[in-house]
Amino acid sequence: MGRVKVTVLYENHSGFRKGLLGGHGFSALVEGWGKRVLVDTGMDGRVLLNNMAELDVEPDSIDYVFITHGHYDHTGGLKAFLKARSRPVKVVAHPGIFARRLALKPRKREIGIPFEKEELEELGAHFVLRREPFEFTGGFMSSGEVERETWDRAVGYLVKEGLRPDPVKDDIALIIDLGESVAVITGCGHSGVINIANHARKLLGKPVRVLIGGLHLIGAKPETLEDVVKNLDVGLLFTGHCTGLESFAYLRCRMNHVEPLHVGKSIEL
Ligand SMILES: [Fe+2]
Ligand SMILES: [Fe+2]
Repeated sequence: MGRVKVTVLYENHSGFRKGLLGGHGFSALVEGWGKRVLVDTGMDGRVLLNNMAELDVEPDSIDYVFITHGHYDHTGGLKAFLKARSRPVKVVAHPGIFARRLALKPRKREIGIPFEKEELEELGAHFVLRREPFEFTGGFMSSGEVERETWDRAVGYLVKEGLRPDPVKDDIALIIDLGESVAVITGCGHSGVINIANHARKLLGKPVRVLIGGLHLIGAKPETLEDVVKNLDVGLLFTGHCTGLESFAYLRCRMNHVEPLHVGKSIEL
């Protein structure tokens, strides 16, 4: 197995390199097993394509897109990304990503994917939509729906015959086989980071060496954060985006090996 490298392309913090732009959302390039997988696309295609160009990532060089869930800050850049390519691409996701979703606080607004499936297909997206875990190419696996044995971090409402709380069932993670262990990439971690890590460990029967991504811990109670400190069984944690600065600071103080994410950060595994 060759080395696996993760490069952050989109994050709420722009990092420290001239030309890179920050923005609300998340996207990362994962290179390994002879393939390039784009995880999520951030909120704004202009920011995504700017950062890809600055980091020398050709849109056509991507073999697969993996969408962690349907929220706008992870899917909003998808259309521009497809337009920037000259050939089709497989897009792996959960079938629930196209649901219409609203947030009601602090104001009522749409928070789902801002595109129709058909318009993305016309631009070359070949969707592979599955609820179950599966290996979509050697060494890269979709977690499928995550079993929620403990708390999750669901947000918003589904618009379907009225409004009902959205469990964000489409929240999946990318699992990368590292041989003796696995790496896990989350988008927002709405399924709950402890559930996600446990699910990944059970699926492949290997420890989670590293977990990278957002954990949706903005506004989390101290008990929730303390539960992460005590029960999150991962070697290294790289987190940002919707983890929130206060929750990040708490975890960084209380756990070993917690590092922040920013655009341009690269992590070799
Ligand atoms: Fe997010
Ligand atoms: Fe989200």
